[in-house]
Amino acid sequence: MADNQKQAAARRALEFVEDGMKIGVGTGSTAEEFVKLLAERVAGGLKIVGVPTSERTLALATKLGVPMSNLDDTPHLDLTIDGADELDGQLRLIKGGGGALLREKIVATSSDKMIVIADASKVVATLGAFPLPIEVIPFGAVSTAARIAEISSAHGCQGKIARRCDSYGEPFFTDSNNFIFDCAFGGIPDPDGLARELNLIPGVVETGLFIGIAKLALVGTASGVDMIEPK
Ligand code: A5P
Repeated sequence: MADNQKQAAARRALEFVEDGMKIGVGTGSTAEEFVKLLAERVAGGLKIVGVPTSERTLALATKLGVPMSNLDDTPHLDLTIDGADELDGQLRLIKGGGGALLREKIVATSSDKMIVIADASKVVATLGAFPLPIEVIPFGAVSTAARIAEISSAHGCQGKIARRCDSYGEPFFTDSNNFIFDCAFGGIPDPDGLARELNLIPGVVETGLFIGIAKLALVGTASGVDMIEPK
């Protein structure tokens, strides 16, 4: 069910892709559906260049024959298509479930437009049921976690803050060699304020809160694809 919805959203996103575009390519299972469909169009003659948001996406796109570049060679993008872990009615997002939030945010903000693709389960009234990923510098990470807890609490967010581990129980490292703390707040009453304040902590590299970045969401549902624009 969710897989069909992800695919439907990814298929609709292709309608926004035009010949000659430079495209930021997201990370995660929904973005991977998009990569597969994009590869089919490229095989049919579409001329685009992609910029990946993770090593994982780069590997898949390259394997499927999608021409890929990087932000140094292609610093300005027309469009980014990416998934999300949660999105609300104002198109505020939680991202980073796949650990790629930093590159995803850099790529999205280097684009004229970011379109989110998602299945219906990702749409929420209030962000925060999905644990908020925060990317931090390994140096002083315990101290940074304490600052995150303090600031989050001041913004009405309390809950377990856990360093992400891989499937072997070892610390998870991002593509930029940082840690991720997953913050199980349950709900985030003031996402804008929280994002602003967390970004002021020196050890925090980025948060998974994407505020004012996405311009459109294409959400696969049981009956089609809904388009959500920021209110
Ligand atoms: C990757 O770091 C994330 O931001 C993904 O975009 C997000 O986790 C959505 O992934 P799925 O499409 O697999 O749900």
